[in-house]
Amino acid sequence: MNVGVLKEARAGESRVSATPATIEQIRKLGYDVVVDPGAGVAAGFTDSAYEAAGATIGDAAAEDVVLGVNAPDPSQLDRVRPAATVIALFAPAFDPVMVEELGRRPFTALSMDAVPRISRAQSMDVLSSMANIAGYRAVIEAAHEFGRFFTGQVTAAGKVPPARVLVAGAGVAGLAAIGAAGSLGAIVRATDPRPEVADQVRSLGGEYLSIESAEVEVSKTGYAKEMGEEYKAREVELYAAQCREADIVITTALIPGRPAPTLITAEMVASMKPGSVIVDMAAANGGNVVGTVKGEKTVTANGVTIIGYTDLAGRLPAQASQLYGTNLVNLLKLMTPDKDARLVLDWEDPVQRSITVVRKGELAWPPPPVQVSAAPATTPTAAVREPAPKKPPMSARGRFGGVAVAALALFLAAGFAPAALLPHVTVFVLAIVIGYYVIGHVHHALHTPLMSVTNAISGIVVVGALLQIGHGSTAVTVLSAVAILLASINVFGGFAVTRRMLAMFNRS
Ligand code: NAI
Repeated sequence: MNVGVLKEARAGESRVSATPATIEQIRKLGYDVVVDPGAGVAAGFTDSAYEAAGATIGDAAAEDVVLGVNAPDPSQLDRVRPAATVIALFAPAFDPVMVEELGRRPFTALSMDAVPRISRAQSMDVLSSMANIAGYRAVIEAAHEFGRFFTGQVTAAGKVPPARVLVAGAGVAGLAAIGAAGSLGAIVRATDPRPEVADQVRSLGGEYLSIESAEVEVSKTGYAKEMGEEYKAREVELYAAQCREADIVITTALIPGRPAPTLITAEMVASMKPGSVIVDMAAANGGNVVGTVKGEKTVTANGVTIIGYTDLAGRLPAQASQLYGTNLVNLLKLMTPDKDARLVLDWEDPVQRSITVVRKGELAWPPPPVQVSAAPATTPTAAVREPAPKKPPMSARGRFGGVAVAALALFLAAGFAPAALLPHVTVFVLAIVIGYYVIGHVHHALHTPLMSVTNAISGIVVVGALLQIGHGSTAVTVLSAVAILLASINVFGGFAVTRRMLAMFNRS
């Protein structure tokens, strides 16, 4: 089979669905790749770069698997073969006209924006890839319009105060914006109805502004729910106070399957200082700010710039294309299990089922909700973020059995073991019990320091075993050797993991 890479037809689109680097990966799956002439020019990829990566230049729409960023235009769709598969961002949840149009076509259409936000689909999660870039770019756009330092400075010529940035919504885009604004030196505050994001905000150097309300609860789906009147009233107070202080406001609030919630009212905008900037990332979905114009930059009477760009990810086209292309490669890997250039649509796979809009000419939209334990019943087409899998708690019977076995073992040890061994066994058993409860309650964020502690303990084990290894008894020697081996694996494995983690931060 051949894969075709379309030249985007939508005006202003600078991204492309494959880069020379991702084309090499697609070719490793056995496919030949055909790229439309000039497909990557707007993203900085020339035809000759594609050819150097092993692609040929030709009519991409006529190939077996057709890749695009946006939905192909009618003339491109007309050239798609009946047995072909087209993969793009069709936005079926928001565009019923497109769904109807696709339903009239004989081919298979897969929509990348419908990839469910579950752990195993993360490598294909285009919305997260793009939101991450867009959050960063939102800060760059704001900094450009703001026209002042983000970081505070004390110079011989006077003091420059740091910029104050408020981020509303700490999902993927919001966290990227917090990280980018913080790294430029701004004072960053963020709020979100999901209290579980507080740690993430703080870990990026931001201050989490909580809204005290009985409705606030840890989300079971990873998404916010529609909040009630009490929360909204407190939210208004918070935004009103913050807007008076903030230099930059970046809004990213989203509740899946609903229009974007209005957070910043006209009065709040009017209360902001002249020269302040608002970036309303939800502009395409109705906007979080009163006065946002979709796709435009406007300036209010009191000198506040409101940016409603909907192409923030496309403003970093090479990187956005690379990430989007990698998401596509990961989907192609999933659908080409034998790496034999044969695309197989597995109907039983929830990820592949979720993204199928049309299968061989038959309309397959909307898909059934993804089966995760906490999937919201009311949003069948919304992407669902899988909660961390939890081990089922041990039953009372199981716990009782465990305690009984441990007590019996202790009783036998007390009855038959030499007297000198008994205190050691008791300490050992107590250590197991205390260790189980202490380590079982260590927060995930502290697992790395915990690893260091276990390395230190392993060091003690090695020293103890070295002292015992020449004891004389074969059993003690063997046990000491095994202890040294296992503890050494932990120590050296720990170093190896740490080295790999540090290498991730190495710029070279
Ligand atoms: P996400 O679902 O990861 O995050 C949205 C966050 O908003 C969630 O953390 C949610 O708890 C929060 N939220 C909901 N109601 C809120 C409220 N009343 N106050 C404060 N926070 C609230 O979504 P993601 O991927 O971060 O996208 C965010 C927005 O950015 C979306 O509207 C998306 O369409 C938009 N976007 C815009 C782009 C552009 O070029 N303008 C590009 C990519 C994404």
